Amino acid sequence: MGLFKAKKEEEVRTIGVLTSGGDAPGMNAAVRAAVRTAVHAGMKVKGIRRGYSGLLEEDFIDMTTRSVSDIIQKGGTILYTARCPEMLRPEGPEKAAYICRKNGIDALVVIGGDGSYRGALEISKHGVNVVAIPGTIDLDVASSDYTIGFDTALNTAMEAIDRVRDTSASHERCSIIEVMGRKAGHIALWCGIANGAEEILIPERYDYEEQNIIDRIAERKKLGKKLHIIINAEGVGDSNGMAKRIEAATGLETRATIIGYIQRGGSPTCRDRVFASAMGARAVDILIAGAENRAICFRKGEFTDIDLAEAIAMKKDIDTELWDISRKLCR
Ligand code: F6P
Repeated sequence: MGLFKAKKEEEVRTIGVLTSGGDAPGMNAAVRAAVRTAVHAGMKVKGIRRGYSGLLEEDFIDMTTRSVSDIIQKGGTILYTARCPEMLRPEGPEKAAYICRKNGIDALVVIGGDGSYRGALEISKHGVNVVAIPGTIDLDVASSDYTIGFDTALNTAMEAIDRVRDTSASHERCSIIEVMGRKAGHIALWCGIANGAEEILIPERYDYEEQNIIDRIAERKKLGKKLHIIINAEGVGDSNGMAKRIEAATGLETRATIIGYIQRGGSPTCRDRVFASAMGARAVDILIAGAENRAICFRKGEFTDIDLAEAIAMKKDIDTELWDISRKLCR
């Protein structure tokens, strides 16, 4: 039985909400939905600022329906976010759980990526109920086919790459365009297809044989191709160095563009607003229903939730069907 069910009716029921790790467009929509669903059910909400760092420092704000007005369209997170090395040490999660109890926080709603999930699981081992919501532009939360912010980041990167493509075409250049994703190539793969790239380099599949890329560029050049777009996932390596080497080997003017944090900001797309709202609301609904230590997911076209430890144990590859399609289209 969950904490809320276990409590007597007259007891105050309070949830804490935090965003953690890299921010993602749509996090605000999830915060808003969690806060409003909780307030609607008569609960109190403490907003925890700067993720787990703010939790350990008790940086809380009481949140009402009004605290989350006018935020659904905003990028970033009004709760601020941080990466918190202290949570990686055993005393971090224990202290976090103690602080939750001390402040009457019965359950935590954590919005973030893989690392944030692991922090949430560790806190739960010290007796605090947690629900995790997948929030990262990288799409690399294994338990969910959707993560908050991926759609917005993709569209931002796609538009930026179109612009680079225009100028590369005018100058008959090769362009290496680096997108985010230190350990995951989802953004690179989707943009590679959407932007009609000749090469897509992702950490999950790249063989690190640069000569193969050079040979393919030379072949395409011989066939009369004047524009070459290479989408490089951040995790694959140094785009500037690669550009210099490709130019030296092919004689083709080559430039690197690193899109960087531009793709992590900006107003969320409709999909990110709506899906994040559904996930934020579901997190609180399942707490009300007595759930314990769950991960909110979108799987096989449906919103659902699974055990948090199980979610963390899952592994995710890139979409192999999309990868196979890209192999036929990148020419
Ligand atoms: O949030 C995910 C992500 O944007 C990755 O794609 C990237 O590698 C990383 O965060 C960058 O993190 P930071 O903000 O710490 O530089």
